[in-house]
Amino acid sequence: MCKDVIIACDFSSKEELFAFLDKLGDYKPYLKVGMELYYKEGAPMVRELKERGYKIFLDLKLHDIPNTVYKAMRNLGALGVDITNVHAAGGIKMMAAALKGLREGAGEGAMPKLIAVTQLTSTDADTLKNELLINETLENTVRKYALNAKEAGLDGVVCSPLEASLIKGLGLMSVTPGIRLAGDSVDDQKRVSTPALAREMGSTYIVVGRSITGAQNPQEAYAECVRQFKGE
Ligand code: C5P
Repeated sequence: MCKDVIIACDFSSKEELFAFLDKLGDYKPYLKVGMELYYKEGAPMVRELKERGYKIFLDLKLHDIPNTVYKAMRNLGALGVDITNVHAAGGIKMMAAALKGLREGAGEGAMPKLIAVTQLTSTDADTLKNELLINETLENTVRKYALNAKEAGLDGVVCSPLEASLIKGLGLMSVTPGIRLAGDSVDDQKRVSTPALAREMGSTYIVVGRSITGAQNPQEAYAECVRQFKGE
């Protein structure tokens, strides 16, 4: 499975994003576009990024009834994104409908990877038990949701690098945020790994935001992440 570094583009506008991309020289990295940027700039910006040669992980975490997700995914498939995602909490039927929509939308184009969010890292044991009324451990729900994603035909899940080997053992790919270069501030992340550690733990893709976007020299920081993660 192809390993790569995905830059989390948590910018509030297209102008900010393009100013950042200009700092990367000739690199055309994999980019993660999330809700903030997508809800501001929408599909035209994604098309423009694709035309400029970037691979896109569109991180919109769909979660609705199967028919609605199916129709929404047809539109995302037609956009030509490379990875997109849903919440596994929507259930197996919803995930299967998402996959069908994505496939139809992609048509003759390359089939995007579809991955699932298991439990958000903002969900802790207390929230799980007392708000969501789930009397299982977080780990058990992550495993079960990942198995549901597999049954629905998805390619993998978003998870911590610490869960990457569990996910690999289930035959799924893992896309892992929570990455920092040694010495960088951890910011609001609770548990962080270096790109080298994520590689050792078996992550398929790492998602790196502020360690690259907030670096003095983003080009060097990106190259360092690639060197550590891909061994290049
Ligand atoms: O700047 P930083 O490297 O912490 O950014 C991580 C990115 O990954 C952000 O876009 C964040 O929303 C996302 N993410 C995360 N943890 C998750 C899921 C997504 O940090 N469990």
